[in-house]
Amino acid sequence: MTLDDPCIARRHPAFLPTDALAAPCLRALVDKCDVATLVFDAEQRVLYANEAAIVFAGMLNPESRGRHLESIADWHAALVPAAALHLATVKGSWTGEVLVCVPSGQQRILLAQISAIGPDGAGPFGMSVRDITPDYARETELRERNAELEVANTRLKGAQEQIVQSEKLASIGQLAAGVAHEINNPIGYVNSNLSTLQQYVTNLLTAIDTYTRALAETGDQAGVAQDEEIRRRFDIDFLAVDLPQLLVESREGIERVCKIVRDLKDFSRRDGSEAWVRADVHRGLESTLNIVWNELKYKTQIVRSFGELPLIDCLPSELNQVFMNVLMNAGQAITERGVITVSTGTTGDRIWIAIGDDGEGISADVLPRIFDPFFTTKPVGSGTGLGLAISYGIVAKHNGTIEISSLPGQGTMLRIELPVEQPPN
Ligand SMILES: Nc1ncnc2c1ncn2[C@@H]1O[C@H](COP(=O)(O)OP(=O)(O)OP(=O)(O)O)[C@@H](O)[C@H]1O
Ligand SMILES: [Mg+2]
Repeated sequence: MTLDDPCIARRHPAFLPTDALAAPCLRALVDKCDVATLVFDAEQRVLYANEAAIVFAGMLNPESRGRHLESIADWHAALVPAAALHLATVKGSWTGEVLVCVPSGQQRILLAQISAIGPDGAGPFGMSVRDITPDYARETELRERNAELEVANTRLKGAQEQIVQSEKLASIGQLAAGVAHEINNPIGYVNSNLSTLQQYVTNLLTAIDTYTRALAETGDQAGVAQDEEIRRRFDIDFLAVDLPQLLVESREGIERVCKIVRDLKDFSRRDGSEAWVRADVHRGLESTLNIVWNELKYKTQIVRSFGELPLIDCLPSELNQVFMNVLMNAGQAITERGVITVSTGTTGDRIWIAIGDDGEGISADVLPRIFDPFFTTKPVGSGTGLGLAISYGIVAKHNGTIEISSLPGQGTMLRIELPVEQPPN
């Protein structure tokens, strides 16, 4: 809406939209305006400055106080950037931020708007300036607060995930402990019976062979024929080969079940049978590498990059189990030949162990599930999906963290951080 607007004239008849009245009105308005406003020509000679501009000039340049200000330079040499004047001439106006240094040594940020107000667009120029340093400070503070909030939020989310994860593990742990307990006994005697059975079968087959040979030596044709008939009817020759084989497979199956039960018990271990000691993690890593070497030697090269580690408060055999699970996973992720890197180091009052492989990697949809108990991508019969769930539980018990990062097709890196000292109970 302008002063010439007929609506204003209609609502306020005393307010005549004539240049004669508008000019003094506008002048009075600008005089009283609390935004520093000035008019200057192309040589930057000041033609007009309102009260606010004079106060502002005193703030920018205390020496100018009480003086008649002739040029923009009396305000501040850097107040009107040359480029700004050029742009205001070409485009009609320019708005931007100007950084000036005041005599107190402080830096102020000014928001300046310059408009070419002359008839030919070359000048004079009108300028309004506002000190936005406090706005900037507030904005910076807000940004910092926001960043702090974001960090806190991320931490909270992480803590929430960990709580959900440990609750999930705790309830599965209870279930697992119950199942493991129930299965343990029957599996125990089936396992022991199978090994006795293997012995009995070997004895029986030996006895049958001995009878057959003894019969052949007697020269009893009818007896030999009957023996052959029975051997044929019951397919004894095939049975003699297949039966031990069946028993071997059954024992392998039972051993596998025993391992699962053992894992389940470890996973839910609440017996506190192992004592906390101060132990050397490198030693644990080395002994675990020795144990898994048989599994890894055909397709992997192990690269060690060990730093200096202090002894840490831990349950060494449980940590070894973590290393074993992670190393086995790394080996299983390598299809033909690859490298497993085991590195260690310290960060503040914690130590870290990183185990990396250049295997198949983990896809983004699988990654969030790998710590879930019983989650496996391995073929039926070759993975129980408990390795990482157990490891997670053990590391959490040590007040540590376990993180995994992976690039599908390029490899996986698992990093474990453990405190050197456990908090007193
Ligand atoms: N280094 C790795 N590279 C690629 N995939 C991995 C790696 N480590 C873990 N995984 C993925 O995480 C899943 C879960 O691992 P976890 O060790 O818990 O179980 P598993 O290896 O399948 O079975 P288990 O360890 O009980 O024999 C694996 O099936 C696999 O998909
Ligand atoms: Mg595993």
